[in-house]
Amino acid sequence: MPEEHWTKERKAQLHDDALRYVIPHFASNEELAKGAKIFTRGKGCYVYDLDGKEYLDTFATLLTTVSGHCRPEVTAAVTNQMETLEFFPNYVDTFTVPLIDLARKLAELMPGDLEVSFFVNSGSEANETALKMARQYHVERGERHRYKFVGRRDSYHATTLGGSAVTGLTWFREYFEPLMPGAVFAPAARDRDRPEGMTSADYGKQCLAELEDVIVYEGPETIAGMIMDPIPGSNTGYPLPPEGYIQGVRELCDKHGIVLIFDEVQTGFGKTGRWFACELWDTVPDIMTVGKGFTGGFIPLAAAVTTPRIADVFRNGPGTELRSGSTYGGHTVACAATLENIRILERDGLVQNAARMGAYLKQRLEQMRTQHRIIGEISGIGLLLAIRLEADPESGQPFPTECGVGSWIREWCYRNGMILRNNGDILVLAPSLIVSESEADVIIRGMDQAITAAEEEFGQ
Ligand SMILES: Cc1ncc(COP(=O)(O)O)c(C=O)c1O
Repeated sequence: MPEEHWTKERKAQLHDDALRYVIPHFASNEELAKGAKIFTRGKGCYVYDLDGKEYLDTFATLLTTVSGHCRPEVTAAVTNQMETLEFFPNYVDTFTVPLIDLARKLAELMPGDLEVSFFVNSGSEANETALKMARQYHVERGERHRYKFVGRRDSYHATTLGGSAVTGLTWFREYFEPLMPGAVFAPAARDRDRPEGMTSADYGKQCLAELEDVIVYEGPETIAGMIMDPIPGSNTGYPLPPEGYIQGVRELCDKHGIVLIFDEVQTGFGKTGRWFACELWDTVPDIMTVGKGFTGGFIPLAAAVTTPRIADVFRNGPGTELRSGSTYGGHTVACAATLENIRILERDGLVQNAARMGAYLKQRLEQMRTQHRIIGEISGIGLLLAIRLEADPESGQPFPTECGVGSWIREWCYRNGMILRNNGDILVLAPSLIVSESEADVIIRGMDQAITAAEEEFGQ
């Protein structure tokens, strides 16, 4: 409904009701104190609020809308499925046509022999499932003593309790401890932390040695799996791993019989300029989890995808089946929407566009850095980019936390019609894969103006 159809009273009521009747996910009371932001429409890379104001969304609606908002092709696919069979569960021995077609499509798209899917409703559930798969895999093979998981510091994997246990960022875990026992942590392994004078390859070796120390100290025979995001997410500004690290993790997991899980919930489906981030290092995990861009934001769906080597352990006669499931996992209409989203990504060459526009945006950001005094590291790849704001980029001195310069810039952008995600003083740039060069220019111009205003405000 166009915004002009809402009366003033109705809008005021919606604002009151939002705050009274809803707890938003990972709510910010500081932000909510300024009022609810209510969205009503979307088109392409743009969304519109209750007053009809347009925003260019540089965070692709929480990293989901890879093929843009409100695609008529998806509406048609969803409507058709709704009118044919809206839902039948993927339960015990029942399947639906879109679910089977989607599983086959995933098998074609995914690297290596990742070809057997378990469908769920969210990225958290996908990671939860991957952990259960790894544990039961070892149980079925007579290695019940393998119950531990290695995670990485500063990672994020899930909002659920099992997934929180392997999440390295303490903020997400600390109120809920004790969590699932057996989660241990290896260093984050970011090339940006490399000591001066050391090569990336040497730092990669050092990080791998530290990881192996953790494995050996814990006892390799007690470890079920390792879970990691090949490129950690927006929380830490998409830091790339040192050279050889990802390949080395694969070798270590093979050496010690550990199931390797790549969480590609954020990095999958083209955002790095490849279909999956692990392709950047020619490395295939034993289980890959996907969510977010997988469905294009149309209807929730996620998956844990594994190899026949693992899946066959659960298909080895009565009693070996994977003990996991939920009512709506692999919802029929969600599968139809996701298939259409993937068809659009392929048809319109959007993964290639992400590579092209990512390189363009990065180059524009590098140019912008030369004109500002507060831009430090520019990190990330493809359309997962971040810039770090620093009081003195020369020495790497951060702004005092109480300054809140990142939030100030986010708000400036919002007032000026652009949605920008910040995590403290890290600004994230991760638009939809459909972003055009002219939209990229608008984004850069907006950021440039916002940073100039911040430099004036904070006296830099
Ligand atoms: C890397 C990563 N893994 C898992 C998740 C959890 O996905 P969801 O929010 O769909 O449960 C997220 C969400 O932000 C994520 O970024």
